[in-house]
Amino acid sequence: MKTLNPKETGIKEISNFLTSSVIPRPIAFVSTVDENGNPNLSPFSFFNAFSSDPPILVFSPAKSALTGKQKDTYHNVMATKECVINIANYEMVEQLSVTSGAYPESVNEFLKGGFTEEKSVLVKPPRVKEAPVAFECKVTDVISLGEKGGAGNLVVCEIVLIHFDESLADEKGNMIAEKLDAVCRLGYNFYARISSENIFETPKPLRSYGVGVDAIPQWVKDEKVFNGNELGKLASIHEVPDKKEIENEASLKEYILQGKGDTIPEIKKLLDQNKIKEAWLLMLHVG
Ligand SMILES: Cc1cc2nc3c(=O)[nH]c(=O)nc-3n(C[C@H](O)[C@H](O)[C@H](O)COP(=O)(O)O)c2cc1C
Repeated sequence: MKTLNPKETGIKEISNFLTSSVIPRPIAFVSTVDENGNPNLSPFSFFNAFSSDPPILVFSPAKSALTGKQKDTYHNVMATKECVINIANYEMVEQLSVTSGAYPESVNEFLKGGFTEEKSVLVKPPRVKEAPVAFECKVTDVISLGEKGGAGNLVVCEIVLIHFDESLADEKGNMIAEKLDAVCRLGYNFYARISSENIFETPKPLRSYGVGVDAIPQWVKDEKVFNGNELGKLASIHEVPDKKEIENEASLKEYILQGKGDTIPEIKKLLDQNKIKEAWLLMLHVG
């Protein structure tokens, strides 16, 4: 492994390293207005949700590394303490990229990007009509992270109203990832699209917990036939099945057991299908 000390590294290198390794980053498509009510729209990928109660989003417009100047979005949130954070989808990404140009502060990037201003309810900045989700926010704090070019400013935003396209939501009103079709930022000029072939589910050990990798029989670990994700799935079972369960398990009888060599692919297949208990039963049967 190579080691990098930020104190001995240039800002460009650090910036490129951060943005290419801390991925994927969601994108806040932020609309603001200046003190005269002129709208501004810009994307920020130093962004995330940080609290549910109160509901808080934070994004970071940095001082320009080229000019050392603060961005228009920064000046606007300092002046008005309001913004709308819109979530962009794949359909909008090329237009969104246009709005990130360093236009003079008088320029309305809604027009440059070809987006439609939709009046907000509780804040002055308009929201992006084309966006599938929009959060009207009051800015509760702006935390400066430094004086030099490249220094971020954490803009702490309390959500006061949420708009979303209900045709992209499930019956509980939560967004369906495949339908939202969100985009996120990677390093350089790369983006990623959240599409169905990249989405997978893993059970959340919230109310209970798994037995852990340390409870998996030693021979399984010694043989090194399972990868980390397979060991993790085995470790997620709440209780190691006992011998009686192995004897009673009908599905085991389906397998013609010819020793460990043939059984391992079978266990892997069960794990791939998320049949964790069956995988355990087969593993204990041979072990
Ligand atoms: C997808 C994307 C993400 C970006 N993320 C950030 C960011 O997190 N912080 C930042 O300072 N600039 C970021 N930028 C650059 C700003 O959008 C750009 O500097 C913009 O001109 C700022 O506009 P403003 O001066 O109107 O606020 C990003 C650009 C793109 C295309």
